[in-house]
Amino acid sequence: MEAIRVGYAFCGSFCTYDRAMAALEQVRARFEDVVPIVSETSAATDTRFGNAHDFLREMERICGRRVVDTIAKAEPIGPQGLLDVLVICPCTGNTLAKLACGITDTAVTMAAKAHLRNGRPLVIAVSTNDALAGSAKNIGALLDKKNVYFVPFRQDDPVRKPTSVVADFGQVTQTIEAALAGKQLQPLLLGPAG
Ligand SMILES: Cc1cc2nc3c(=O)[nH]c(=O)nc-3n(C[C@H](O)[C@H](O)[C@H](O)COP(=O)(O)O)c2cc1C
Repeated sequence: MEAIRVGYAFCGSFCTYDRAMAALEQVRARFEDVVPIVSETSAATDTRFGNAHDFLREMERICGRRVVDTIAKAEPIGPQGLLDVLVICPCTGNTLAKLACGITDTAVTMAAKAHLRNGRPLVIAVSTNDALAGSAKNIGALLDKKNVYFVPFRQDDPVRKPTSVVADFGQVTQTIEAALAGKQLQPLLLGPAG
């Protein structure tokens, strides 16, 4: 395994947690040092998709370390250069908007700000129902931002959710590897799921 330090941040797209957790397992199998990070919403919200406490314990089990769940715990990522790459998977429309506008009021946006100041890659796995509506301008702004890469994504249900887009969680590890080499994994825009 490579001695690359990976941050893996969950935001509150709860319906994708099973896929994001499977992707975390794959990332952990590839990279020895993986730091779990959660937004405050992720840490505090129980939903029909599961209990927040159980999700946090599962992340800690996979990574073998405690979650970073506050701005104060995320802040040293910058000055101490703690990560080589940071992944936000899943990334909500809310966090996309904050990243695009420079708002830093969660553990995840603090981790991203701290990490980007070091000129290192940030990988985003988007999951939001308004990706082709309200969030489109934020995705566009981030696509154009230095050191920001996207996990390839597709419309997940064009008929019933015409503005919804979800990353292909099976490509998270490959996107990290490409980002570490300064490249965007292609194709970025995927067709309908087979
Ligand atoms: C059950 C449930 C599912 C949600 N799924 C999504 C989602 O897939 N994508 C999204 O952008 N927001 C989703 N949200 C809304 C976010 O959790 C909400 O915008 C929150 O403020 C996100 O905070 P964060 O980005 O700091 O994690 C969902 C909320 C709930 C309660």
